[in-house]
Amino acid sequence: MTIDMSMPGSSGLLTAVGKRDMKFFSNQYVLVLTGCAGIGGFLFGYDTGVISGALLYIRDEFPAVKDNYFLQETIVSMAIVGAIIGAAGGGWINDAYGRKKSTLLADLLFALGSLVMCAAGGPYILILGRLLVGLGVGIASVTAPVYIAEAAPSEIRGGLVATNVLMITGGQFFSYLINLGFTEVPGTWRWMLGVAAVPAVVQFVLMLYLPESPRWLYWRDEKAKAIAVLEKIYDSDRLVEEVELLASSSMHEFQSDNTASYLDVFKLKELRLAFFAGAGLQAFQQFTGINTVMYYSPTIVQMAGFTSNKLALLLSLIVAAMNAAGTIVGIYLIDRCGRRRLALTSLCGVVVSLVILAMSFILQSSSNLCMDGMNGSCQGALGYFAVAGLALYIAFFSPGMGPVPWAVNSEIYPEAYRGMCGGMSATVNWISNLVVAQTFLSIVGLVGTGMTFLIIAGIAVLAFIFVAVYVPETKGLSFEEVEQLWKKKAGGSHDNCQSLLGAAA
Ligand code: BGC
Repeated sequence: MTIDMSMPGSSGLLTAVGKRDMKFFSNQYVLVLTGCAGIGGFLFGYDTGVISGALLYIRDEFPAVKDNYFLQETIVSMAIVGAIIGAAGGGWINDAYGRKKSTLLADLLFALGSLVMCAAGGPYILILGRLLVGLGVGIASVTAPVYIAEAAPSEIRGGLVATNVLMITGGQFFSYLINLGFTEVPGTWRWMLGVAAVPAVVQFVLMLYLPESPRWLYWRDEKAKAIAVLEKIYDSDRLVEEVELLASSSMHEFQSDNTASYLDVFKLKELRLAFFAGAGLQAFQQFTGINTVMYYSPTIVQMAGFTSNKLALLLSLIVAAMNAAGTIVGIYLIDRCGRRRLALTSLCGVVVSLVILAMSFILQSSSNLCMDGMNGSCQGALGYFAVAGLALYIAFFSPGMGPVPWAVNSEIYPEAYRGMCGGMSATVNWISNLVVAQTFLSIVGLVGTGMTFLIIAGIAVLAFIFVAVYVPETKGLSFEEVEQLWKKKAGGSHDNCQSLLGAAA
């Protein structure tokens, strides 16, 4: 895997790089493309968020579900199982058939799954529907970030991919709203689950008018089509530069015989390093507890002593709104501070807030701390302390560890492996998600809530070290520069690397 310096433009890889100063809102075409691709992120958020509310009504309608925790858990987690399979297969589909066809396939699965659930006459059909939307979620979770990143100018790439994460967090928020909105409507859960077919159909139609990713087209030797897409994004000077960069990329090495294989990820050092960084980020995103908060915030609020169901639901809506608002801050910061600084700052705040959360639960359960007679007010104060810890957690997680793993994974792999490696690391994300969701309450039962949050805080410390040591800065770098960065890390000698690393810092 060495760059052939005789490739057109490769000699001038860095000298060709002119001013990269596109602003987030300056190119409408890229924004429209991001918005359309982001509908996949919206459905990811909606379909994973909606089930907590819908389940309450499904239980009422099917007595078999009401008394059977296993069936309830299966209805909830089947979408995650689908997402694991969808992300793993979706990576390959992305490379073999392109980003556009992958998105269309995800939409068909989303729409079909939503309709199956809406019409389900029993729990097993519901589970089938959850599996289908899960497959869609998995494929979309790989495809949308890659499709957006490949069309994005490098200086705003992080913010554009983070916009897809805003669609995820927005989709979660919207699902909680829908859950509240449909409580009085006949057929409650059928509507909650069925409406997701609408954005899927909308995205399917919009995608028919959008182009295939220019980088994928170029890699598949459809250069004229690729350049036609790039012309809509860049002015003529920048266009020449971008095409030169594309031509210089090592994507040519895989063009003729399509040799990319899953085994290469373990055989080629630069790929292995990139995958380690990307998959590690995805695992840590989940193991630092975001979904314990997203799925269990009402439970956590109740554990903190607020027993009203309504208040708990309202608070979870506020948590979801804060998460979406925090993602907007992430969009603003990711191309300014860089991925590393954002993730590291986010993790520092996550550790502090988890310790606050943990301490308030630990103190609450140690009876000798509150003096007799003051017990009620003391407990109340600790409850508020816990909720403040929760709010602080979201405020720090959402701009950093929410978007950074998705952004980094969309930009660190070479073209021939972008779908494959992105899919594998998204699979790591979904497996970790499942593990955390399935074990959180049992661990709480085993060691107590406070201790559980302390364990998660410990994991966040490990995540900090991991990011500091293994995740390079990719802010503003072109895909070609990122490739060289890995080659340099893998020990290759490349003329341009010093300046690249300088540019990355
Ligand atoms: C994560 C999801 C999570 C969501 C909420 C995403 O980046 O991948 O698992 O539910 O953020 O913040």
